[in-house]
Amino acid sequence: MRFSDEFIEEVKARNDIADVVGSYIPLKKKGNNYWGLCPFHNEKTASFSVYPPKQMYHCFGCGEGGNVISFVMKYENASFTEAVRTLAERAGMEVKGEEETGEDRARRARNDILRQINSDAALFFMNNLYSAHGQKGLGYLKDRGLTDETIRHFGLGFAGNNGKAVVEHLREKGYSDEMIIAAGLATNSEKYGMGCSFFGRVMFPIITTDKKVIGFGGRVLGTGEPKYLNTSETPIFDKRRNLYGYNFARKSRKKYYILCEGYMDVISMHQAGFDSAIASLGTAFTEEQAAMIKRDGREVYLAYDMDEAGEKAALRAVRMLTAVGVTPRRISVKPCKDPDEFISKYGKEEFEKRLNDAANGFLYIEDKVMERYNLSDPEERYKCEREIVENLWMFARDEVRMNSYAESIVTKYGYTKSEVSKLLEETRPREYPSKAAPVTTSYSPPKKAVGKKKESGWTAAESSLLTWITDEPDVYSVVRRYLKPDDFSPGSCRTVAVKAFELLEQGTYSNKALFDSLEDEETVSDATGILQNSAPDIDTPEKRMAMLKDLIIKVMERKCELIALSEDPEKELKIFKCRIEIDELKSGKLRISDEEEN
Ligand code: UTP
Ligand code: MN
Repeated sequence: MRFSDEFIEEVKARNDIADVVGSYIPLKKKGNNYWGLCPFHNEKTASFSVYPPKQMYHCFGCGEGGNVISFVMKYENASFTEAVRTLAERAGMEVKGEEETGEDRARRARNDILRQINSDAALFFMNNLYSAHGQKGLGYLKDRGLTDETIRHFGLGFAGNNGKAVVEHLREKGYSDEMIIAAGLATNSEKYGMGCSFFGRVMFPIITTDKKVIGFGGRVLGTGEPKYLNTSETPIFDKRRNLYGYNFARKSRKKYYILCEGYMDVISMHQAGFDSAIASLGTAFTEEQAAMIKRDGREVYLAYDMDEAGEKAALRAVRMLTAVGVTPRRISVKPCKDPDEFISKYGKEEFEKRLNDAANGFLYIEDKVMERYNLSDPEERYKCEREIVENLWMFARDEVRMNSYAESIVTKYGYTKSEVSKLLEETRPREYPSKAAPVTTSYSPPKKAVGKKKESGWTAAESSLLTWITDEPDVYSVVRRYLKPDDFSPGSCRTVAVKAFELLEQGTYSNKALFDSLEDEETVSDATGILQNSAPDIDTPEKRMAMLKDLIIKVMERKCELIALSEDPEKELKIFKCRIEIDELKSGKLRISDEEEN
């Protein structure tokens, strides 16, 4: 569906950002801003700010920012269209049919049919499993310890001994060959004609939370390659945004998910009563899946296989989950290979114990790192500890936790705080460039990247001033006499200044125009932070001018600092000139109209 610009603007206008965000998370008003705990990273003190004058939000902790639509997209893990639709409905607006182009409507209808084909095929496979043709398949699943109840619960099936049966069935239902192929259920070859490539396999339907079948995993009976064949990506089967078992697990009352590697693991877990087991769909765990879990507010027990591939995948998942603020733990199912085997050998009580003994994600990483070094060698020991410290960066969006884990390292390895800080600094990843200002706390608070090229950030004065001139364009006519966009800190701040000055100069400033002119996402996100530092409520015009003067002076002083740090051969002269301007301004009043100029 494509919405017109007018419709999108109206949706924004009718959905006040403070109302919308406030309906998701508690907010408190302070001055012009509202503050709350950031829903996009874990924190104990509110650094998430909503700024109604610009209808924007920004988290000063993790750098996330945007408007009401991007908030809903991010929070609901929704597409742009879905978010606009949600907001339109929230405001009681009619999502007009004509907004949908013919093409979009056709695509939606087609996708509905693709889901229907997959659901019909799943029913066929299920019936097949319990028919005379399905004996081998049913025998295989029973041998693996699955009960009829479990088989029915998961809708398992058998694809049949040749690839024709399901195709015939679907044709009889009225589906065209082209759609059967598009659904991922069959291919057409010159030699054999239409055939289902899953033939001979037991079928694991992948079911969404709204009970639609979107694809399958098919396992060979016994040995053969590939062991599992999965539906390829189709318009309805997005492997990144779905999880196996999620349709049941999401409804579970457990406060955690058990993340497994395989379909069979998930099924055995559920059969044993661990009804919050899930797995990714034949691919590595994705960011989107981590975001889904984060949204559900649950913790994660990782029950990946105990082999090298499983350990590697578990380390990766620990980092990904931690980074979005989900607490991961690693379950050991030693001496078994995977949870499926463990449950059938030792039973659920034993697994329950393993759950309770699961290792904290960071400690698990620590153990794994230590295994790789010879700790009696001082050099190796140093490298090992350095690598452990490096892993603290996975908490980069959660300062409080990062400090607490750093503290544990201090205690454990007999380092001092400043030594840990130094190692942290040395291992600082590119995504978290340090701010220009020296950090005085023992552990430098992580700040999200400010521009990809490690540019420095911006000062509060710059941010207040830019917010002010864009809120009240009249103020700009004063500021332009003293400052040029180049006087602002390089990076996002200067980019925002350049664009804002340009638009204000033309008299065409609007938030939309400004944001539309920003090219990369990073700058957009930074801009939401820069442009919501409202000046404190000021009652008299005199105080307003004094405040403005003070901000301009601060920005000029910042400019001097920047020149001093530069390699400019003429920097002494430039600083001298800048100082004179500052002194003049300090001793006089702001020039607010042309007459005062000579
Ligand atoms: P495993 O081989 O560990 O799967 O692969 P499993 O579920 O434990 O298998 P069995 O039936 O008990 O032997 C883990 C997951 O990786 C994907 C599947 O999603 C599987 O469940 N996979 C594996 C594939 O997609 N294709 C393959 O050929 C193998
Ligand atoms: Mn396995």
